[in-house]
Amino acid sequence: MRLFIAINFNSETRERLLALRDDLRSRSTRGNFSAPENLHLTLVFIGEISPKKLDKIQAILETVTFSPFDVSIDRLGTFSRGTLWWAGLREDKLLMDLQHEIEHKLALCGFEMDGRKYSPHITLGREVVTDAAPWRIEPFGETVTGIDLMKSERINGKLTYTAIYSKGAAV
Ligand code: 2AM
Repeated sequence: MRLFIAINFNSETRERLLALRDDLRSRSTRGNFSAPENLHLTLVFIGEISPKKLDKIQAILETVTFSPFDVSIDRLGTFSRGTLWWAGLREDKLLMDLQHEIEHKLALCGFEMDGRKYSPHITLGREVVTDAAPWRIEPFGETVTGIDLMKSERINGKLTYTAIYSKGAAV
């Protein structure tokens, strides 16, 4: 199974992200734009693993110290020579510390990480063809109250993400 750890947003933030996606789409001649339910922020991409290792990943997430923190989305940017478009987040130490802790704990338990520098982004579209250049937006955001272990699969050809385990703040 193909897994990743992500932050899923509340409905208000999703609406705002969707409006950004639509704005980008209106400025593009082509593109494979993210479905509303697929808008998320990946913390760690785990990749293909045997379902036997699921317990181990859940046990690792149990040990992660999670406290709510604020995120602010403030710009659109690109990867992949300008074809992958994303919404970017204002730099945030709590987000980066959380990401680092999870990645580090997974690596210690033998999960192979790709080793690339983490660049927080919310993918809005792939293979986008547009004349637009990245732009800044009026920041919006929310308080993140939990993280999810996500399964990625194709169901009837549609890319589908499902939360299979969630971790919130300790009470
Ligand atoms: P992306 O949107 O920039 O492709 C599920 O695929 C999630 O994991 C996506 O948010 C994806 O980011 C992220 N991801 C990170 N590294 C990945 C990789 N090597 N292969 C596929 N997805 C990756």
